[in-house]
Parts: sequence; structure tokens; C-alpha cells
Amino acid sequence: MGKPPNLYAFQGADELAPSFRTFILDAQNNALDRHNVFRVGVSGGSLPKVLGKALLEATNGEAKVQFDKWEIFFADERAVPLDHEDSNYRLVKEELLDKIPAELGKPTVYPIDVKYLDDVQEMADQYEQTLVSVFAARDSVRVPMFDLLLLGCGPDGHTCSLFPGSPLLRETDAWVLSISDSPKPPPKRITLSLPVASHGIRIGFVATGGGKKDIMKQIFDTEEGRQLPCGLINTFAQERVSWFVDYPAIEGVSFPARRGSL
Ligand code: 6PG
Repeated sequence: MGKPPNLYAFQGADELAPSFRTFILDAQNNALDRHNVFRVGVSGGSLPKVLGKALLEATNGEAKVQFDKWEIFFADERAVPLDHEDSNYRLVKEELLDKIPAELGKPTVYPIDVKYLDDVQEMADQYEQTLVSVFAARDSVRVPMFDLLLLGCGPDGHTCSLFPGSPLLRETDAWVLSISDSPKPPPKRITLSLPVASHGIRIGFVATGGGKKDIMKQIFDTEEGRQLPCGLINTFAQERVSWFVDYPAIEGVSFPARRGSL
């Protein structure tokens, strides 16, 4: 048995950002030492805003963000044009990419191919091919290993576009899956599969606000919660997972949280 996930709790967004930055830069520097590139998968929801704040506003120590070494992928994405209000790419662009000062360099970004908006399975297959081309040939790597996955947690315990009870949770082979009836709109999406989403060298979840406290309690304190998508990632990835939350999100949670800066 490995160690349990890390749960870091902060007063609010302003206190969370510098520690989230430290966590990300640590993952970046580790990856750059290993292979001189930093491969990150990001989700939508509230995450891109927190990411922008951590990387562009917060300061903590001397480490530098080396955006020119970053390769950004989407842990899940909605099948909409890239400038659509529902697009996770658009969100990441507005909250982060457009605001990066020139001297910090430019990440390489891998958006979905909007040619396939009408065929979401084909879109998933194409995105998987993109991962194959970057992470090595499909037959030599069983599961692509992101240096860092940055994920959110829905009020039902979903993460990426992996929803509780979905048959997609049983996928063991494909890297990227399609979904046409997402309970959270919009319905058509692609998502990393559970084996890929739980395989990151490091996995960071961000969950803030009192609206998350019931699901956080389930995930961290109950057996049923461990079967939810976020709980499954906790179980599979154990201490490779770090949660960044605010106090309202863990009100009533018994699992021990470390409070204050990293
Ligand atoms: C999406 C997301 C989704 C999100 C959670 C949490 O594109 O819908 O990737 O998995 O991360 O729903 O969203 P919040 O952080 O906004 O609560």
C-alpha cells in the first residue's frame, strides 16, 4: 500500500495560488530534468482561472515558469468550435495563454481538431493519435504518462468527462474516449480514459467553495466515494495526487488536510 493522496487546504484563492504554483513548478522542474519537456493535461471548469492566477500573478520562491518547454493537452474537451463559450481551449487561452508575457516563452498547445465536430468518436480517435505521436508509438507505451494532470471535481464526483456510473469508467484500452450524452452540458465531449487520467506522474485537483463539501466528504471519508471517478483516481494514484482546496470545500471532512502554504 502506498501513501494516501495529499490534501492541501487554504483560506481562499489568494492563499491557494502560491502553493499551487510551487506544486506546478516542482512538477515542471522534475520533468525538465527528466526529458527537457513538460507535458501537462488540463481540464475545464474553474481550473483554468486558478491556473492563470497561480502562474501569472502569484510568486513563491525563485523557480521560473519555462513556458517554452510546456506542451499543453486537454484532459477533456467539449466538441464545440475553439472560440465557442463552452470550449475549454478558449478558457485556457483567455485565462492563461493570452496573458503570458513574451519573455516567459510560448507553450505548445494541442487543441482538438474541429474538423470532427460532427463525429465525436472520430475526434477522440484523432486526439488519441495526437497523444501517440507525442508520447511514443502506441505499441511501445501502454499508457501515456503526463508529467502533470490538472483536474477539477464536479459536485457528483466526476472528473475530466468521466461521470459516475458511466461505462466509460470500464475502458482499459483506449486513451481518449468520446461521450455524446454528458450529464453536464454540453453533451458532446472527449475525455482521457481513467487509466490515462490516473497515470500522471503528478495529478493536481482543484476544488473550491462550499458547494463541494458534500462530495469531498464522500470522496475522502466513504467507501462509496472511493468508487466515484475522483475517488478512483485517488485510489489508483495515491500519493501522486494532491488536492488544492479552500476551507469551505472541506467543511466536515474528516480526512486530514494540511492547512497553509506548501
Ligand atoms: C469540464 C471539466 C470538468 C470540470 C468539473 C469541475 O470540461 O466540464 O473538465 O470535469 O473540471 O466539472 O468543474 P468546476 O471546477 O467548475 O467545479
